[in-house]
Amino acid sequence: MIVTSQPRTQPDITPEQKPSVSPTKPVLIRLERLCKAYTEAGQSHMVLDELNREFYTGEFVCLLGKSGSGKSTLLNLISGIDAPTSGDVMIRDGAREVTITALSEHARTLFRRNHIGIVFQFFNLIPTLTVLENVTLPLELAGKANGTRDRAVALLERVGLANRLASYPDKLSGGEQQRVAIARALVHDPLLVLADEPTGNLDDETGVTVLKLLLELTRDAGKTLFMATHAPDVAEQADRVLHLVHGKLVNDQLAKSNG
Ligand SMILES: Nc1ncnc2c1ncn2[C@@H]1O[C@H](COP(=O)(O)OP(=O)(O)OP(=O)(O)O)[C@@H](O)[C@H]1O
Ligand SMILES: [Mg+2]
Repeated sequence: MIVTSQPRTQPDITPEQKPSVSPTKPVLIRLERLCKAYTEAGQSHMVLDELNREFYTGEFVCLLGKSGSGKSTLLNLISGIDAPTSGDVMIRDGAREVTITALSEHARTLFRRNHIGIVFQFFNLIPTLTVLENVTLPLELAGKANGTRDRAVALLERVGLANRLASYPDKLSGGEQQRVAIARALVHDPLLVLADEPTGNLDDETGVTVLKLLLELTRDAGKTLFMATHAPDVAEQADRVLHLVHGKLVNDQLAKSNG
């Protein structure tokens, strides 16, 4: 069951929480009082503390923050891999806004398969499938049978791997594997692409190439790209830079002025 909701009025937003870009594009993602806490040894630890934000269609958002600050946690809540302690994530799908956090785990999985592309730090390709099969898989899972191969091949050409269609992932370099993962993330024409430290496991030069491809392909397709990274130079290319500090999302200028 897909639960939809009417846009709600924005809850209290302090000046520093306001978006730093003007919302000329439609809102794609909304976080509303989003909280995630973990309990360990009887002690609750608040990782994400009442996040209220909007992200726009076509925007490249760069998420910085120290190790353990909650970047992956936030991405996993947006993708529906994980569920929050409280609060909501909404994603606009055409005329309706889907409250991801109100869906069952199964429904979240279906939504993710159909509408979200994810690029992981460790590539997460399926070792028993060829390069081409890894890229066609999301289309098959989404039940899109027509033109599947052509679309996958076209994307693999874009990432420079047209000559490796029949190779298995363990025969590819890290950079090549991540290029397959980029093609896989875009093949089903998702609403948004989430990337969790996509260059974190690559050498600097390969990382630059992979990042360039990821930006080019998502921009050309008009997709929202939400990227967690440790690399501050990536931020220079982003439309908006946010820092996770003590469970809160902080705008770039504010984070810098606080040192
Ligand atoms: N399943 C879990 N149980 C308990 N604590 C958890 C769990 N998953 C994550 N955490 C804690 O949540 C916090 C945020 O973790 P998260 O992985 O989101 O950080 P991150 O910013 O992605 O870090 P990194 O840059 O190292 O990838 C950490 O303190 C982590 O220990
Ligand atoms: Mg992480």
